[in-house]
Amino acid sequence: MSAPDAPLSGDGRGGGWGDGTRSVRAGDAPPVPGTPLRPSPVFAAPFHLGDLPPRAQGADAYARTEHPTLRAFEEAVGQLDRGRSLAFATGMAAVAAVLMACASAGDRVVLPSDGYYATRLLAADELARLGMRVQYVPTTGIEQVAARGDLDGARLVLLETPSNPQLDVCDLAAVARAARAGGAVLAVDNTTATPLGQRPLELGAHVTIGSDTKALTGHSDLLLGHVSTGDDELYARIQAWRNHTGGTPGPFEAWLGHRSMSTLDLRLARQAQNAAAVADLLAGHPAVRSVRWPWRPGDPSFALASRQMLRPNGVVSAELASVDAVRRMTAASRLWDAATSFGGAHSTVDRRAQWGGDAVPAGFVRFSCGIEDTADLVADLTVGLDAALAA
Ligand SMILES: Cc1ncc(COP(=O)(O)O)c(C=O)c1O
Repeated sequence: MSAPDAPLSGDGRGGGWGDGTRSVRAGDAPPVPGTPLRPSPVFAAPFHLGDLPPRAQGADAYARTEHPTLRAFEEAVGQLDRGRSLAFATGMAAVAAVLMACASAGDRVVLPSDGYYATRLLAADELARLGMRVQYVPTTGIEQVAARGDLDGARLVLLETPSNPQLDVCDLAAVARAARAGGAVLAVDNTTATPLGQRPLELGAHVTIGSDTKALTGHSDLLLGHVSTGDDELYARIQAWRNHTGGTPGPFEAWLGHRSMSTLDLRLARQAQNAAAVADLLAGHPAVRSVRWPWRPGDPSFALASRQMLRPNGVVSAELASVDAVRRMTAASRLWDAATSFGGAHSTVDRRAQWGGDAVPAGFVRFSCGIEDTADLVADLTVGLDAALAA
């Protein structure tokens, strides 16, 4: 397992490398002549055991616990997060592992009221049933709650910044100080930012979580998630949870995840470039009531995002006048596919009220800017927005 600042290639040369190099090299094994640059997946559920105890001398025994392809993916993600990583079959399996492994009956758990809606469903249907007390705080209100001392006594605080889908940002370091002073575990859902966009562990969080279904792997073709931490006790607890409940990714997903990560820096750069152009277009178009992109000067999240985050990404939110306006926009556009999720190579739009879980207006849309050409995306979206206006 990598220590937080472990060299990337295992040869002691990689400490100061940039995002592009880190994306490609994270998790690489030392170069051994005759071995592939990126090992192939090892397809096995059980491994030969003989009469040794399981995991004797590091030998693999059964893949639900760990397997070589998983270790390589976890090593890579952990190097980007600057912690030790545990991969999960989905982002929700990772979120659930943190919530369920770190809190118990009677504990108070603080969640964002405006975060990913499936996390709130998990809390409402499962955490409450198991006797945890769930307190919801909006992302923009958590610093005030922390400053008042109201996080004291909470067992676990989960933040999501930027929040999905409204892209609000909160001050991680300030909340981390308060959470730690009050004895809470601070977890951050870092899905929107990705490990290259924000390093919650360095800002004081105990745990960072990612839905790697999104930009980390970025091709809209697999489900994955992860948890990273620098805390050995939390690592052991979350690992035990995964062993007991079995949310371990199989070798093909782990391999595909590691392979896809190699282009993370490139994809994020193009997505951010596209998002800047799309946010400008949306802001100037009469079909659009409001736009959110944390890296756009004037956005309510701009100052904090610029200070706290390492780089922008491709997720933009905007409000159109109505459901029909959104329908006309997607019908007229050829490049903006209506689909949920975000962070992929394809540009997509998701009218969030369609899902019923977010407190957003009917015409609220999350745009996920892909890696197509900026000029093409802007021209095509202009056609869509003009159509949205033509009632
Ligand atoms: C912020 C956030 N966290 C967690 C998840 C859950 O991830 P998955 O769909 O991989 O389970 C999502 C999915 O959209 C998300 O947006």
